[in-house]
Amino acid sequence: MAHTGDSILILDFGSQYTQLIARRVREIGVYAEILPGNASLKEIKEFDPTAIILSGSPYSVYAEDAPQPPEEVYSMGKPILGICYGIQMLAYKMGGEVEKSAKREFGRAEIEVIDQKSKLFKDVPQHSPVWMSHGDSLKKLPEGFHLTARSANAPICGIENKDQKIYGIQFHPEVVHTDSGKQILSNFVFDIAHARASWNPSDFIEATVAEIKEKVGKKTVICALSGGVDSAVAAVLVHRAVGAQLKCIHIDNGLMRRGESAEVVHTFRDHFGIDLDFRDASELFLTRLAGVTEPETKRKIIGKAFIDVLAEEAQKFSGATFLVQGTIYPDVIESLSFKGPSATIKSHHNVGGLPEIMDLKLIEPLRELFKDEVRNVGRALGIPEHFIDRHPFPGPGLSIRVIGEITKPKLELLRSADAIFIEELRNSGLYHSTWQAFAVVLPVQTVGVMGDERTYENVVALRAVTSVDGMTADWARLPHDFLAKVSNRIANEVRGLSRVVYDISSKPPATIEWE
Ligand code: XMP
Repeated sequence: MAHTGDSILILDFGSQYTQLIARRVREIGVYAEILPGNASLKEIKEFDPTAIILSGSPYSVYAEDAPQPPEEVYSMGKPILGICYGIQMLAYKMGGEVEKSAKREFGRAEIEVIDQKSKLFKDVPQHSPVWMSHGDSLKKLPEGFHLTARSANAPICGIENKDQKIYGIQFHPEVVHTDSGKQILSNFVFDIAHARASWNPSDFIEATVAEIKEKVGKKTVICALSGGVDSAVAAVLVHRAVGAQLKCIHIDNGLMRRGESAEVVHTFRDHFGIDLDFRDASELFLTRLAGVTEPETKRKIIGKAFIDVLAEEAQKFSGATFLVQGTIYPDVIESLSFKGPSATIKSHHNVGGLPEIMDLKLIEPLRELFKDEVRNVGRALGIPEHFIDRHPFPGPGLSIRVIGEITKPKLELLRSADAIFIEELRNSGLYHSTWQAFAVVLPVQTVGVMGDERTYENVVALRAVTSVDGMTADWARLPHDFLAKVSNRIANEVRGLSRVVYDISSKPPATIEWE
């Protein structure tokens, strides 16, 4: 584990906000990790947290299968903060009463702080807006606890037992709509749990570099550099630890954006001095994709071709023992969740299969980081900003943005339109207010007129969305003048494209990508 010092353990009972709790705690400078709410006492003790937070949950404490932590958690002597379901669970276990309710309270509410001396509410205004999301509510305090806050719909909204260092709140401090949420979490973490802030990019880098050095020794490590943020940061981190023992491989699958492969090679070879093997495999990918139109089949072909080519390239480093993978924390949480991974709508590919084929051990230096933390580590490592701040780009690349059959001419049309769209977004300062933006070439030809001539050409769609995590998204309200400028440039500069449309679908029901 690449963190030293104090840490907060979050036990997850399935709330949609659990990840946010961890992010907020880390934002105030203390390492936080999530374990499933039904983790064993042994796991919890091994983690040795400075304090524990019990998350919310869609369950009622009365449900037969209501998730709960091991009983001993309450008597470990560690400070505990129960949030939403967390307060109900701990109060219920300690003899309090929870009122079943069919009605859910969801949204903004106001709390009144009753106990002004409560450490949890230090510097919180007496009347303060909060975010609620609960069905059941606390009806009777457990013995040894006193009331610290109330709200109109939840008369028992904050409780504490100072001697046992157990605190509970009915509302969600991790949600931005709770004005004093950050203050409350920081009161718990610093004033109650006395944790020290030691979670920052430079300490993380130092600890991770030491850990990788120790693990790798004199062995060789290989890493597939895609051009995305995660693999770039992972590679530079490992390079800092083991230098020339790291061998990177970049494969041009023929589905990259304009100039992308050249930029990857230049940045990592010339700027970082990383030993980088480049393979132009575009012919192989495009040949295998010829005539294929079905989106999932495209993904499978690309995933398989990627493994084949990588395995072939990796033969050059036949003594390699380790493989770097840019897994990040949300992927880890997803696979650990006690509810199991969520349903797959589109299959995503990584280096799956290669470790087994080549008998490689994995190094995943970003396993503990959220995306914004990966970016901060990347900045601290000196990776150029335009690499760090990029929109997400899917593994199958442009293949899922050429709807229908993929051909070289269509890929070129797409690259040209996409480059114009992104350049204009950057020039007008709109790039960062969109979460992802790209062009899509449609398998439709429409009539146009150029000079005196009738044309019959492909349609290009522009897609730009706002989102927090890609799970849901809304179409970006880009200014009309901006869209007009992009459309004009595409029509004037890209031969073969005369009709441009803008996608105004949100997710759900549409997805972000068209395929
Ligand atoms: P959708 O289209 O499912 O996309 O709303 C959500 C996010 O995932 C990206 N995406 C993929 N990424 N392999 C990837 O690595 C894939 O097959 C894939 N499909 C979609 C998409 O670009 C968006 O950021």
